[in-house]
Amino acid sequence: MRKIFILALLFFLLSLNAVFGGESAYIGSQACFACHSDQERGWPKNPHHLAEKGCEACHGQGGLHQESMDKKDIINPAKADPIKICGACHLEKGKLEPQSWTEGAHAKAGFTCLDCHALHKTGNPKLLAGKKVNELCYACHSDKEEIFRKGRHGRQGLQCTACHSPHGTKYDKMLKSEGNEVCQACHEREPHHFIADKQNKKMRRLPCTGCHQPHSSAKQYLIYKKGELCVHCHKSLY
Ligand code: HEC
Ligand code: HEC
Ligand code: HEC
Ligand code: HEC
Ligand code: HEC
Ligand code: HEC
Ligand code: HEC
Ligand code: HEC
Ligand code: HEC
Repeated sequence: MRKIFILALLFFLLSLNAVFGGESAYIGSQACFACHSDQERGWPKNPHHLAEKGCEACHGQGGLHQESMDKKDIINPAKADPIKICGACHLEKGKLEPQSWTEGAHAKAGFTCLDCHALHKTGNPKLLAGKKVNELCYACHSDKEEIFRKGRHGRQGLQCTACHSPHGTKYDKMLKSEGNEVCQACHEREPHHFIADKQNKKMRRLPCTGCHQPHSSAKQYLIYKKGELCVHCHKSLY
């Protein structure tokens, strides 16, 4: 008897819940603007207006929150698990490689997508909160700033992302391709050595970075300092 009473009570409560909207549901982006009108203006410029489910793609169903206006009824990705939320589209179905991301230095250092991307400060260029790519990198890699700005690559306006992917890659140092291919994407050159025989197999395997500093010093040709270049490989000679 007691059991039946409890079951009946449960059923009653559940139906109340349904009638008064206790269950959440998708309500569509337009419904959000009714209260978050400040989000409306930038929305057409946000690439995510193309995403299925609009606002609710990242914030989850808004039904319950619409009624309660309570922040505990809506997901804020910054307080949740951004990698899971963003990854549902970009790592599972998108262009980013899940394994590369996990093994990349940035994921290993514990960063998430939101350490670099801001989702609502649009003016899109890839949602970097209005920062240029290199500015973003210098904020943490300040040791690269001066050397890169002065060097040939920096002065030519190259971005760090010409050679690295901030999302990790399967290559060392998050480089976009392997070995000399990184450089040969722009420079149609084989390694060259002033003295060694060009037919020599070892010569052909020389890394470009054996002689050139990719981030560059102010020196012409980006070579290591005078007196250091030869020792770099020919230690035994000295
Ligand atoms: C009826 C008005 C109303 C509607 C509709 C509404 N919100 Fe809200 N929302 C609020 C209010 C009020 C707050 C502030 C609540 C607080 O500070 O406790 C809020 C806060 C938020 C927050 C901040 C949560 C946090 O943890 O800081 C997010 C995110 C949010 N809303 C997203 C949405 C989305 C997405 C939609 C549409 C699916 C939506 N809201 C629809 C009124 C609304
Ligand atoms: C692609 C994911 C994504 C989409 C789509 C998205 N948001 Fe957000 N939203 C976020 C993230 C991440 C944050 C946390 C802070 C930030 O990055 O701006 C946030 C924060 C918020 C906040 C809290 C702002 C604050 O000051 O803390 C509100 C309100 C909000 N979003 C409303 C919306 C509305 C309305 C839409 C649809 C027009 C929407 N969001 C679409 C990811 C998204
Ligand atoms: C529902 C799927 C979905 C979710 C969730 C999502 N995105 Fe997106 N994202 C898209 C779509 C669709 C585009 C626009 C089409 C494109 O460029 O691939 C986009 C575009 C972007 C772009 C700009 C791409 C460009 O080339 O201009 C960035 C950066 C981005 N998303 C980051 C994020 C981050 C960070 C999150 C988590 C807070 C997130 N996205 C969550 C689907 C999603
Ligand atoms: C260390 C900073 C950093 C982190 C962390 C980061 N991104 Fe990015 N992301 C960038 C930069 C910089 C670009 C622009 C690349 C360019 O312009 O070449 C970018 C571009 C993108 C794009 C556009 C497509 C592309 O590859 O150019 C998407 C989508 C994206 N990021 C999603 C994500 C997601 C999802 C996460 C989390 C899993 C994430 N990002 C984490 C810096 C970062
Ligand atoms: C022309 C290609 C290229 C560009 C552009 C470039 N890098 Fe690199 N970067 C490399 C190569 C190649 C290595 C590996 C060097 C080695 O193994 O000797 C590397 C290594 C690194 C490393 C790890 C080793 C170290 O020196 O600390 C960091 C961090 C780094 N780069 C950051 C940056 C930042 C930040 C920028 C933009 C300011 C940038 N890179 C621009 C090619 C480049
Ligand atoms: C929020 C801080 C932060 C930002 C922003 C950031 N990095 Fe990093 N990065 C780190 C940390 C921490 C590490 C790991 C420790 C180290 O090697 O310095 C790292 C490591 C690296 C490495 C070395 C990879 C390896 O395997 O050793 C490269 C290359 C790199 N970052 C490039 C970039 C580029 C390019 C950008 C800009 C698109 C960028 N980073 C933006 C913090 C950041
Ligand atoms: C995104 C294209 C791009 C990539 C990738 C690239 N470079 Fe360059 N590099 C340039 C440009 C542009 C210049 C300037 C060319 C000019 O002024 O003729 C340049 C110039 C140079 C110079 C000549 C410097 C001087 O003072 O004349 C050297 C050496 C060089 N790069 C080496 C490298 C090496 C090593 C790599 C791989 C780690 C590399 N580059 C990757 C675009 C690139
Ligand atoms: C053994 C050292 C060494 C190696 C390895 C090497 N370089 Fe060089 N590179 C030099 C020296 C020295 C110069 C300047 C003298 C010259 O032009 O031969 C130079 C000049 C350059 C220049 C600028 C001048 C020009 O002719 O355009 C570029 C670009 C360049 N190298 C790219 C590369 C690339 C790409 C690789 C890898 C495929 C590479 N280098 C491998 C030593 C080297
Ligand atoms: C990036 C590495 C690297 C750098 C830097 C470098 N070399 Fe070499 N060098 C080699 C390789 C590899 C060979 C071919 C050696 C072999 O067959 O064992 C070679 C061959 C030579 C030879 C010819 C040896 C022979 O028997 O044919 C001489 C001489 C030489 N280097 C001198 C120099 C001098 C001088 C410098 C500084 C200006 C220099 N090298 C910088 C890698 C380098």
